[in-house]
Amino acid sequence: MKKFTCVADIGPIDKAIADAALIKKDRFAFTELGRNKTLLMIFFNSSLRTRLSTQKAAMNLGMNVMVLDVNQGAWKLETERGVVMDGDKAEHLLEAIPVMGSYCDIIGVRSFAGLKDKVEDYEEKVIEQFIKYSGRPVFSMEAATRHPLQSYADLITIEEFKTKPRPKVVMTWAPHPRALPQAVPNSFAEWMNATDYDFVITHPRGYELDPKFTGRAKIEYDQRKALEGADFVYAKNWSAYTDPNYGKVLSTDRAWTVDAEKMALTDNAFFMHCLPVRRNMIVTDDVIESDRSIVIPEAANREISAQAVIKRLLESL
Ligand code: CP
Repeated sequence: MKKFTCVADIGPIDKAIADAALIKKDRFAFTELGRNKTLLMIFFNSSLRTRLSTQKAAMNLGMNVMVLDVNQGAWKLETERGVVMDGDKAEHLLEAIPVMGSYCDIIGVRSFAGLKDKVEDYEEKVIEQFIKYSGRPVFSMEAATRHPLQSYADLITIEEFKTKPRPKVVMTWAPHPRALPQAVPNSFAEWMNATDYDFVITHPRGYELDPKFTGRAKIEYDQRKALEGADFVYAKNWSAYTDPNYGKVLSTDRAWTVDAEKMALTDNAFFMHCLPVRRNMIVTDDVIESDRSIVIPEAANREISAQAVIKRLLESL
């Protein structure tokens, strides 16, 4: 594997699940693979889980790790070609990328959607430039339209907790005060579509995602109906994708908050969220603190998904 930005890059899903299980059995079994190899993690946006879990995963593989927060201490970067650089941006990404590539063996990049220009966001300009100009294998630590390390961890978690061969997984939109990208729901949908799970998406009208990601999922606008018989409830907020409202918050209706009454409609479902989560907007305190909440093992599996991905990239060097 030379890059990891989407589910297609990981290949057969059963092998991805088996790889994760192997790592979980002994996460220090491959420490020789990364010896004298360096991972550079580049953050254009904030992070808790991705930063820590990916660094830990690389250390489990024996790698050295460098972290660059582009907005804290680095030169301000210009990303557009052709711009007269007479403003506050001192360095162009087109020089910065190969320079960064010269100091490491593998690069992880986090660069969120700006939510101003749909075409620009969905072109994945930043991570695609890293792939093109770094000369190194590149993986996404959440890009504009996908968060594949999160989705891989979500899949591992569902596999670990499922009690039926073909569980019903419901991804529900939930309210949030700020405009969030579609990366997590797009990516979760893409990974669920790679399984044979019964997969349902529920959201208010106006929050339709790109059909390229939702694929075979059943779209149900009635949240209660969608939740009936669910085995897993995956809550997430996202801003509008469809024009002319791209990137906008259309609703903060707390009737969509996941609470105990909604969970009672399910088949004793597990509650999932990628975190960070706004309590009592997305989910009530009692649901996230209940014994059916698996948000902590889900976050812990970020170390496993990151290790499985970095291991594959190391094997390709
Ligand atoms: N879920 C997730 O990616 O968390 P962070 O934004 O804290 O990395």
